[in-house]
Amino acid sequence: MRRLVSETRLHPADLVLPVFVREGVSAPVPITSMPGVVQHSLESLPDAVGAAAAAGLGGVMLFGVPEVRDARGSGATDPDGILNVATRVAVEASAGRLVVQTDLCLDEFTDHGHCGVLDDRGRVDNDATLERYRAMALEQSRAGSELLGLSGMMDGQVAAVRDALDDAGFSDTAILAYSAKYASAYYGPFRDAVESTLEGDRRSYQLDPGNRREGLREAMIDIDEGADVVMVKPAGSYLDVLADVAAASEVPVWAYQVSGEYSMIEAAAAHGWIDRKRAVIESMRGIRRAGADAVLTYWAAELAEWIRNGDTE
Ligand code: PBG
Repeated sequence: MRRLVSETRLHPADLVLPVFVREGVSAPVPITSMPGVVQHSLESLPDAVGAAAAAGLGGVMLFGVPEVRDARGSGATDPDGILNVATRVAVEASAGRLVVQTDLCLDEFTDHGHCGVLDDRGRVDNDATLERYRAMALEQSRAGSELLGLSGMMDGQVAAVRDALDDAGFSDTAILAYSAKYASAYYGPFRDAVESTLEGDRRSYQLDPGNRREGLREAMIDIDEGADVVMVKPAGSYLDVLADVAAASEVPVWAYQVSGEYSMIEAAAAHGWIDRKRAVIESMRGIRRAGADAVLTYWAAELAEWIRNGDTE
């Protein structure tokens, strides 16, 4: 009876697995602050994508960890840069079974660690960054990415990238806008995962955690600019924003259960302080209940297995 009247079902196709790919390593490297998550090598990536496809996941979101960084984030627009190479590898391994997506942001590629390029005074230069994003979008599309994850929170980024894609004939490449991305402490373990060099914070371009109305407003602006999917991030602490966006949006609404949300449950479970499996499933159910159509989560593959076994019903 409970199964019959359940309001929220979980399905593997609604899950997206974030995947880190590190340049210059021959074997996967564990990420200390995210137990169970690794930086893949180009050699280990095809199996990871194959496993995600076999698990029935909706997609993978690729993040590159380059060996060399500079002020402009040149590696991001180099066809031989790690993210673009990894995209080609992932597209081949997926063979159309899931959607290969790429993080479109400069932070992994800049030596200062910011999501954009800086002006003379060391501040993030919004409009100069848009030019870099346009170039990145073209390289990622050429590499075969089907959905570009615009996570940099620059104003006008969706319109700029859509325009660049259409101009170059990539009208089929879709845009996932990280619309309501909050300046969050929960990104801490991710910054380990990509070996971020950031000093300071991203409060000049990411949203203030106290602002609910602004999250919805950002999503509406991105839809106007042509976003195919809008996202709220982090997920668990922003379910009100997620519910607002889900109620108003005409396009699919996703949420990103971020690194810190992952690590907190893993850490508590490792101490025996929480029932790991129940907590993971409940966290996901809450995010879906609040209105997410699909969710990026580091537990995607394991959750898919639990779903298949009937453990989530
Ligand atoms: C930016 C980006 C970040 C995350 C995804 N894309 C980091 C940031 O804004 O500092 C965080 C994801 C996570 O914490 O799991 N490229």
